[in-house]
Amino acid sequence: MMRIPLQWTIAVTEDEAAMAHKAADVFMETARDRIKKSGHFSVAVSGGSTPRPMHRLLAEDPHDSSRVWEKTHLFWVDERCVPQDDPASNYGMARGDFVEAVAIPERQVHPMKGIVEPDRGATDYEKTLRSFFCAKQDAFPRFDLICLGIGTDGHTASLFPDHPALNETRRWVVAVKGGHPDVWRLTLTLPVLNAARKVMFLVSGGNKRDVVTKVFQNDPSGLPARRIQPGAGAVTWMLDEDAASGLLWTRGIEYDHRDEIPAHRCMRR
Ligand code: 6PG
Repeated sequence: MMRIPLQWTIAVTEDEAAMAHKAADVFMETARDRIKKSGHFSVAVSGGSTPRPMHRLLAEDPHDSSRVWEKTHLFWVDERCVPQDDPASNYGMARGDFVEAVAIPERQVHPMKGIVEPDRGATDYEKTLRSFFCAKQDAFPRFDLICLGIGTDGHTASLFPDHPALNETRRWVVAVKGGHPDVWRLTLTLPVLNAARKVMFLVSGGNKRDVVTKVFQNDPSGLPARRIQPGAGAVTWMLDEDAASGLLWTRGIEYDHRDEIPAHRCMRR
């Protein structure tokens, strides 16, 4: 029997465009809810190509969201150690896709500095996070929302399979080398990702089908994405039909594209 983490839900959409709409809605709903409850919204976004349609929708602002952005603090899950105008820069890409277009005050945008020496970049970003979250020495920051992607090898953020960075238990940000492009990167660590209130994976395309299936089947190699199981938070897997096609929801589960369902309901037993 496959054990699916209880805090995981899935939301399957017809295609990548529908997923972007749903994800932008979740982003804004989460922001409004947190601003109502705590006065501000802290979110960390990932790089890669999958989140771009959602980011562009945020820029189009169908939600009349200027008041949300005024209270939003925007951080990054990971960054490649390249200049901000390099096409591989996660901040550079997000800046063009939505950051410059929305009403977020500049002081509330917190890019990782990809151009300093990697270990120093990691230490600097941890300082930035510590001063924002005012967390005690041994505690981890609690982001309201963390948006993640997954690579075909099962990596998430810049946490790659079998990399020693996966064992980090103390630091909030570390420097690692790897991925495509194979450059130094800065990444939030597992304890930080797992301290979030809400994590949203965005995954689309048939090339992700096998890795999604593997992650849900609890592959014994302990793929990084499988290790996203916040102690006191929720994880939503936003999947398009192609990425979800290895899960059993296509067979006999009553599924409505508007629903989010507990992930264990969609697995073969
Ligand atoms: C990065 C990421 C990384 C990404 C996945 C998926 O900067 O590379 O944060 O974890 O989310 O590699 O990337 P795609 O969306 O391009 O498939």
